[in-house]
Amino acid sequence: MTKKTIRRIGVLTGGGDCPGLNAVIRAVVKTAVREYQLSVVGFENGFGGLLQNRARDLTERDVIGILPRGGTILGTTNRDNPFHYPVMINGKKVFKDVSDRVVENINIHGIDALVIIGGDGSLSIGKELYEEKGLLVVGVPKTIDNDLSATDQTFGFDTALETATEAIDKLHTTAESHHRIIVLEVMGRYAGWIALESGLAGGADVILIPEIPFSMDNIVKKLRERQEKGKKFSIVVAAEGAKPIGGEMVIQRLVEDSFEPVRLGGIGNVIAYQIEETTSNETRATVLGHLQRGGSPTPFDRILATRYGAGAVNMIMNGKFGEMVCLRTPNIESVPLADAVGEQRLVPVGGDLVRTARQIGISFGD
Ligand code: F6P
Repeated sequence: MTKKTIRRIGVLTGGGDCPGLNAVIRAVVKTAVREYQLSVVGFENGFGGLLQNRARDLTERDVIGILPRGGTILGTTNRDNPFHYPVMINGKKVFKDVSDRVVENINIHGIDALVIIGGDGSLSIGKELYEEKGLLVVGVPKTIDNDLSATDQTFGFDTALETATEAIDKLHTTAESHHRIIVLEVMGRYAGWIALESGLAGGADVILIPEIPFSMDNIVKKLRERQEKGKKFSIVVAAEGAKPIGGEMVIQRLVEDSFEPVRLGGIGNVIAYQIEETTSNETRATVLGHLQRGGSPTPFDRILATRYGAGAVNMIMNGKFGEMVCLRTPNIESVPLADAVGEQRLVPVGGDLVRTARQIGISFGD
């Protein structure tokens, strides 16, 4: 195959946002322009921009000052999958494959290759665009959940972890003053990374993660043990996907048209209620929610995002299409998108983090 000459590249951010997206966009633009003399087009609101042809040129001037900014200057959405796109036919919503429109718009803009910054959902679409439509795609792994299997870490996770840890620190002081039990619910989808690491960093007494189903009896046992030792407050950190042994995750609602068919959330309040009923201790729940997705990225995330952005452009120039940039500490490498999507990176229940937590007395409610 003759190597395609690359002159102009596209970039989009898809799925839920996270701190560091702007840092990736900035690094893509700077590397493309400075190192390879390419021009860059940004598509707005994820795949929606590719379908509805909402695009703008991105120059170095456009990325001035965005390194420390949360969110994404391009906008994003969990919706608008071109292979499963909702259209109204005779007043009825049906789903159609409109991916040819993506190819048309890519051609209209004279784009030779596309950088997709996204999580599992967006990168799966990227894989399909590469395999079925022949688009020259490279992926960049983003998500606060840190649940992509093919990279040591996704950018965004470190910032979410810092936010969650700070929340635990703050909850500690009020829990202690009022002699209360406080349950903090954090995000993470089906993976317990944010709960586990923030719980460790913040000194939680109980950590509940989807990978280790819990029983209420065991949680209460741990809380009573603390009381018997004269400790008048406790902190429980619950991942939104935590579930009881033999039970299900708490689902807020089902979501049509989204990369994410279910919206998790609510376990924190359920547990807090049950704890108060069983122990008669005043108990409160805090749901940290989208605070974990906002704010300025940590230095770690800024650096990782910058390395990923530059790495993605290097991959394009080296013909590594259909692949995702990844961290194999200490190096930036790449893996086929086919190996990067589909398989989640869950907390290993026999791993060192869980073992260490148990050794210092943290209960997982199991
Ligand atoms: O995947 C990132 C994430 O923040 C999850 O932790 C959470 O379950 C979900 O997205 C929330 O999505 P939304 O922004 O659609 O509520």
